[in-house]
Amino acid sequence: MNTVADYSSETGRATGPAGSLLVLGLETSCDETAAAVVRLDPDGTATVLSSVVHSQIDDHAAFGGVVPEIAARSHVEMIDGVTRRAMAGAGLDYGALDGIAATAGPGLVGGVMVGLGFGKAVALARGLPLVAVNHLEGHAVSARLGRNLAYPFLLLLASGGHCQLLEVRGIGEMSRLGSTIDDAAGEAFDKIAKALGLGYPGGPALERLAETGDGSRFDLPRALLGRKDCDFSFSGLKTAASRLAQTCETDQDRADLADAVQSAIARQLAERSHRAMQDWLDSHGATAARPMFVVAGGVAANRTVRAVLEAAAAKNGFDFLAPPMAYCTDNAAMIALAGAERLQQGLVSDIDTAARPRWPLDENKALSDPMHKPGRKGAKA
Ligand code: KG4
Ligand code: ZN
Repeated sequence: MNTVADYSSETGRATGPAGSLLVLGLETSCDETAAAVVRLDPDGTATVLSSVVHSQIDDHAAFGGVVPEIAARSHVEMIDGVTRRAMAGAGLDYGALDGIAATAGPGLVGGVMVGLGFGKAVALARGLPLVAVNHLEGHAVSARLGRNLAYPFLLLLASGGHCQLLEVRGIGEMSRLGSTIDDAAGEAFDKIAKALGLGYPGGPALERLAETGDGSRFDLPRALLGRKDCDFSFSGLKTAASRLAQTCETDQDRADLADAVQSAIARQLAERSHRAMQDWLDSHGATAARPMFVVAGGVAANRTVRAVLEAAAAKNGFDFLAPPMAYCTDNAAMIALAGAERLQQGLVSDIDTAARPRWPLDENKALSDPMHKPGRKGAKA
């Protein structure tokens, strides 16, 4: 059975101080149909009034991964009901909203078109501004949901499709310091989990299996060691671990390998983040406030990853923050917040904005860096 996580804020007063913005967010870029209402106060405080996420996991489980056509059809069936529930959870009528934010990419374009088209319809019918949001920008601000996190901060965005380090100075002001040259961290979790015979999505299943394992007997490859940039590579690890998975005979063997894989992914994330923190300290010099290191995206839900990154941050004199678990994986609250921050700056979108399968956050960097051309197979941004 597919799951629906439904959250209504206990303190969900819709009306905030004068100048607050109420935004409905819509997210349909992969296999979650999500809607949420977020209130952004003039001082930057974000309150989630409701957040509904319908996961399609069971629709795709038999195929071992997300099937784009099935995903798009399910979004069509669910978007109306999920949005109604989010509005009811917030106790609001459409007339109370200040804007509609919808993911416009990157992602599976059939799904993106459903949420974006639905958002356009509501915006037109209610005379509300539309804000087309980059899904990655949503992840980038997700740690600000319900917390007092000020700009700028250093961000590791690690999800199923993306793995990159970014300097986040504000909404629409993000520079990419490095990204994966092949697979994303979540993709590595998913593919190795599949080789171990675990279900989809593999990350959470692999984390559970690793709890009873001891990976110390496996010596997995360490990519890009000694390189002075902030890029990632997981394909060597994926190949080596998938081969080792074929040699596992017992459940204990598989648990041990899962533990080794989880540690290896966490270690690489920490090593590259350490580099980025060093670069940050070099380029920013001494500042009054301690710098902040944030991890977001589905892989940030992994407890070993969080612990290893927190230790790396502490070692470099950074504070550490990860979004609440519910806002690590795909959700619409992060889209609503990114939309509200854009709206606050008067950044609205044309009603004919197109859905984009690929949409790098730092377009200048993507164009100038031959390793990471937009459209390149593999790394998505
Ligand atoms: O952010 P997200 O929901 O979707 C994308 O934008 O890609 O991330 C999904 C990814 C999947 O690869 C999933 O396996 C991974 O995040 N993930 C995890 C965990 N929970 C989700 N990976 C490792 N450990 C977890 N607990
Ligand atoms: Zn995502």
